[in-house]
Amino acid sequence: MNNFKERIATELIAVRNRSLAYTEAEDDLLVRQHSPLMSPLVWDLAHVGNYEELWVLREAGGITPLRPEIDDLYDAFKHPRKDRPSLPILGPGEARRYIGGVRGRVLDVLDAIDPDSPDPLHRNAFVFGLVIQHEHQHDETMLATLQLSREPGLVRDGDLPPGGSGGAEEVFIPAGPFLMGTGTQPWAYDNERPAHQVDLPAYWIDRLPVGNLAYAAFIDDGGYDDPRWWTPEGWHWRQESHAAAPLFWTRDGGTWWRTRFGRPEPVPMDEPVQHVCWYEADAYARWAGRRLPTEAEWEKACGWDPSAGRARKYPWGDDDPGPGRANLGHRAARPAPLGAFPAGASAYGVEQMIGDVWEWTASLFLPYPGFRSFPYREYSEVFFGKDYRVLRGGSWAADPAAVRTTFRNWDHPIRRQIFSGFRCARSAGPEQA
Ligand SMILES: [Fe+2]
Repeated sequence: MNNFKERIATELIAVRNRSLAYTEAEDDLLVRQHSPLMSPLVWDLAHVGNYEELWVLREAGGITPLRPEIDDLYDAFKHPRKDRPSLPILGPGEARRYIGGVRGRVLDVLDAIDPDSPDPLHRNAFVFGLVIQHEHQHDETMLATLQLSREPGLVRDGDLPPGGSGGAEEVFIPAGPFLMGTGTQPWAYDNERPAHQVDLPAYWIDRLPVGNLAYAAFIDDGGYDDPRWWTPEGWHWRQESHAAAPLFWTRDGGTWWRTRFGRPEPVPMDEPVQHVCWYEADAYARWAGRRLPTEAEWEKACGWDPSAGRARKYPWGDDDPGPGRANLGHRAARPAPLGAFPAGASAYGVEQMIGDVWEWTASLFLPYPGFRSFPYREYSEVFFGKDYRVLRGGSWAADPAAVRTTFRNWDHPIRRQIFSGFRCARSAGPEQA
């Protein structure tokens, strides 16, 4: 195998080790449903193998189906998450054997494919990028399930750099066009394509995500009880949910506590806030006299290099993240303190855009002009419309292989079991524009 294929093989092994580590628990914990929002962990485990079989073995490799009778069980579109525990899905041992059997043949296909082929699944080994990213995305989902399970001792924690102090609160982004999306990142999803020019008026964006200290001030100021800050839909959610703080937070006297992977701890006030839904992020922004950035504003501030006139893969450039630039890939099971990564700043000087928390944007999930679905409609196209808001930048639980400045995630505005936070923006006044 050449270097390119060896790197892919290494990525395949790494992501599989990750999936296996998250499913090392007792069988009972793997087959149980911890929340109607989530699948049992054992469903995710067999699903990533089934997806790999469908795309790498059958579509790209032309290999006869190994277990065609289970395809239906692992089709995310046929069975909503809440129904998955009642399906006759594979048990933990059987699931591990099945995905291992698929994986052996996947490496044979990798050996045989031609990355210069005109076939779009083979070219640049796209189909391998597809399954590696897909599995990392499910691994992040499994972490959200493990957090909801409130079982202690299942998720590894780790060390992170200390926070920074000082620096401007906001960064000014001058008016002008930039190139949004990508036509050059070989493993980009269909929804990131094509690259297209977007001309934005001048705006300000926060240098850092909104932190727990600032968010607690919103709570203390009665933010959850004041309909002025909420959209009608957001206020409806607030009334129905009785939410009064981010998910997993509780108050004990004057101290905020949170439960993180089954263990209670005081909320660290210097971390980005996480586990807030879009409605909460939007209400906070209004309370602060600001607004959420649009998706285009977020991407320009993150990826555009105005002096080179080109977009970067990551805020700092095209090099891999490394430990000094971002909190990605589950180094620790939490966001890093604010200001921990000055070396990860974008060309404009905006920090912590990649890693730590997914950032809600003001934008609905819509196709870019000239969008074409590839390789299947159900990845992106069926979600376009008014039901989903876009999140950007990846969380601490996202892997560098499944994050870049153009990467788009989306979810319902009520969702907060995901590792979601936000930063604020505001339009520049006429004197600055
Ligand atoms: Fe999936």
